[in-house]
Amino acid sequence: MSNTTTTSARPKLRTTRHSTAKQSRKEQTVAIVGLGYVGLPLALLCEERGFGVIGFDVDQAKLNALKSASVPDLSLHEQTRLKKAKIKFSNNQRVLKDADIVIVCVPTPVFEDHTPDLRPLKSASRSVGLQLKKGALVIIESTVNPGVCEEVVIPILERTSGLKVEEDFYFAHCPERINPGDVNFSVATIPRVVGARTKPSRDRAVNFYTSVLDAEVVTVSDLKEAESVKMVENAFRDINIAFVNELAMSFDKLGIDLGHVIDAASTKPFGFMAHYPGCGVGGHCIPVDPYYLIDYAKKNGFSHKFIKSAREINNNMPDYTVRRLRQALELAGRSLSGERVALLGLAYKKDVADSRESPAFVIAEKLIEAGAHIVRYDPFISKENDYLTLQDTLSAVDSVVIATDHSLFKTLTPEILEQYEIDVVIDGRNCLDKDQFTTSSIVYRGIGR
Ligand SMILES: NC(=O)c1ccc[n+]([C@@H]2O[C@H](COP(=O)([O-])OP(=O)(O)OC[C@H]3O[C@@H](n4cnc5c(N)ncnc54)[C@H](O)[C@@H]3O)[C@@H](O)[C@H]2O)c1
Repeated sequence: MSNTTTTSARPKLRTTRHSTAKQSRKEQTVAIVGLGYVGLPLALLCEERGFGVIGFDVDQAKLNALKSASVPDLSLHEQTRLKKAKIKFSNNQRVLKDADIVIVCVPTPVFEDHTPDLRPLKSASRSVGLQLKKGALVIIESTVNPGVCEEVVIPILERTSGLKVEEDFYFAHCPERINPGDVNFSVATIPRVVGARTKPSRDRAVNFYTSVLDAEVVTVSDLKEAESVKMVENAFRDINIAFVNELAMSFDKLGIDLGHVIDAASTKPFGFMAHYPGCGVGGHCIPVDPYYLIDYAKKNGFSHKFIKSAREINNNMPDYTVRRLRQALELAGRSLSGERVALLGLAYKKDVADSRESPAFVIAEKLIEAGAHIVRYDPFISKENDYLTLQDTLSAVDSVVIATDHSLFKTLTPEILEQYEIDVVIDGRNCLDKDQFTTSSIVYRGIGR
């Protein structure tokens, strides 16, 4: 726990705006380990704010893409920065030896059985430890359950470097909160949480973040609290989405439009936060991180019923979406077997190219299992497409499932679809104008609408 100034509203937290560390940043080298959705924007920001920056990644294809500045889902500003960047990108861990600050942003996925797969984090920790300079600060930004920093990462760093934490090097955890594709919040403007074992480590990490961010930096008592913050944020979101997904399945039976209900409930100025149902939860965070907490709590003797149940409900939504299609086809006198279906959208959220854990793939699997002939189309992920254009895709099918609310798909109207003789639409993201469809010849079904 920080022993510096506390805020009055939350006495256990300290918030800090721009710090005193600015004058030294030009002399400091920051190494970013893992140059993906999290690491790359941070590397670009550090360079923009005057640090020398090194980028280390094990993926040669990623490094090639970085060198040719062709990386998806960066903001316009970041794309421009990448073209001009003087960052040294490398897959040789020896580049890390000059770093004063090392920030680890590698993936933290789960295995098939939903237990944490810490292999990338362990491997990155070894690379960092082998090159660690005395006096350096190591920060873990990857999402991890409470205990990982102290029980997994620090022991690897100490063993491989021969250095002792808090004596020879500093260590902190600052869970990343970036939301790729978000036009309102960037890595620079999202407030951050820092946890460390000791004041010197915490102060160094806070100084670093306050010198690169335009947002608040909040400290918590220790590493476990910082790790838990991210677990709570993402489990909160998963549970709320599961709640509205369950309501959607109930309200579909009751004939009530859940979207109308949520919008009306949202007029309450306190105590309600709108979440919306859909055909499933994707991405590297929400459908993954809760399992880290579930697993850690289980190992420590607690079974999380509520969080597990949310995961089950959300995992079941692709199946529910396919059932919606089956029922709609029955109304049109057809079955899934032999049906030609366009699956529109493979990315896990709108207008990005990230398809990790996307429910679209589960929907595709289930449709194929049921004997449907599917045609995939996503304007952001061209390598996965069965046809080059939306028009060609629509020409080849009789029904449509929308799995991602890309802006392009929102332009679809009954008139357009009727031109292609499409008569069944399952709107897995509730992104089309339902009123237009209910007065058309097309059978339209959303999720909870
Ligand atoms: N994507 C998001 O929106 C988001 C948001 C907040 C937090 N996070 C968390 O941040 C972490 C990184 O996520 P991401 O989305 O950037 O992942 P990513 O897959 O986009 O990028 C990770 C990068 O790390 C590299 N890598 C893997 N093992 C490595 C190693 N041993 N050494 C060096 N590089 C290695 C990969 O090649 C890849 O380029 C995860 O823990 C994730 O949960 C992600």
